[in-house]
Amino acid sequence: MSREELVSMTRSLVEHGAADTMEYADEIVRIPASTYTDPELFELEKLNIFRRLPLMVAPSCELPEPGDYKAMDICGVPLLLARQRDGTVGAFLNMCTHRGNPVVSGTGNASRFTCGYHGWTFKNDGDLLGVASPKDFGAVDKAALCLKRFPVYESAGLIWATLDPDSELSIADYLGGYDGLLSAFGFEGWTLFSQRTLAGPNWKTAYDGYLDFYHLPVLHKDTFGADFFNRANYFFWGPHQRLSSPSKFVQKTGSDEQIDLTQLSEDEWPDDALTQGVWTIFPHISIASFYGGGQRGAMISQLFPGDTVAESYTTQYYVMENQPDTEEQVKSAHEQFDFLEIVVRDEDYATGKRQHEALQSGMLDHVLFGKNERGGQVFHQWVERLTNANDEELLEIFAGERREAAE
Ligand code: FES
Ligand SMILES: [Fe+2]
Repeated sequence: MSREELVSMTRSLVEHGAADTMEYADEIVRIPASTYTDPELFELEKLNIFRRLPLMVAPSCELPEPGDYKAMDICGVPLLLARQRDGTVGAFLNMCTHRGNPVVSGTGNASRFTCGYHGWTFKNDGDLLGVASPKDFGAVDKAALCLKRFPVYESAGLIWATLDPDSELSIADYLGGYDGLLSAFGFEGWTLFSQRTLAGPNWKTAYDGYLDFYHLPVLHKDTFGADFFNRANYFFWGPHQRLSSPSKFVQKTGSDEQIDLTQLSEDEWPDDALTQGVWTIFPHISIASFYGGGQRGAMISQLFPGDTVAESYTTQYYVMENQPDTEEQVKSAHEQFDFLEIVVRDEDYATGKRQHEALQSGMLDHVLFGKNERGGQVFHQWVERLTNANDEELLEIFAGERREAAE
């Protein structure tokens, strides 16, 4: 990570806070309401966004040991992640090359997978180890019948995969160095405390909420937001963005106390002050810092489109720098995590579902993103641009982003 880059963002937040200003977008943007409700557009987004772009599929600490695996389904594609003996992660199409049955489900630790239909066996690096009753089946070219491999990339304690075996888009290019900044969290050495999956509204309706501080003191007034500032400044790296309050105050680690950063020299600014706010990874991840059970932690929310345009699901990973020590701390960490579930389920997603139902009436032509909601404006512009780009244009877009980041 570059502390210098993090300090310069924090400096800008402190200056805006002191001046009681924020960075505005140039104008209010109108988005057609149908972009949230059109089932055809939704199918295209699943194809051109989720089945074509690199996705952050797991925090590294979900698969810490060789042999650890996780099977998941993303937009109808069965994905298998497996930590290899050499410590790298493999990403495979979780379909037996005999007749397509998923070779494993759920999570666990195994060096090989035996398909539950006829018993073909695969190594956890995807190689076909054995055909059941090979004499009866007939000779096959085993090397040609390995599990299909997806491009995979692990960096900053996070794992990305692209659900297109033929993708030519480099995952590093797609991130344009953003993973270098995310490494400031230090997730490589963290552990997974708990996780759960929640049902939500349309994926963009749900994601809008993660890019939005404007709603905090209103929608969340009864839980945590009553005194919350409703302004955010946005920082962009291609389609990925961070939002943070323009303020000279940061919360002191593990307490409610506020630190006034103007009273400290920049060298003294604590590391966790430099990563405050919400970090998103396009198109579907949000990362926010928390303290629970006496430990530094983060909630990584991973959002996927559901079966219909009106549905999504979100896995919340509660990761911690260290596991809590005492029973009491474990309890308090669970309480914190449960609280975050309630806020997202009963406030954000409950609102999103009502909003989506109302939009489906078709009675409103456009929705608005104000000058203070630049993150949402930029998100929707990227979704539209990438949904409509052909494969060649997609490569060119991220090659261009990479060049810009290098300058
Ligand atoms: S489908 Fe896997 S062994 Fe037949
Ligand atoms: Fe919210």
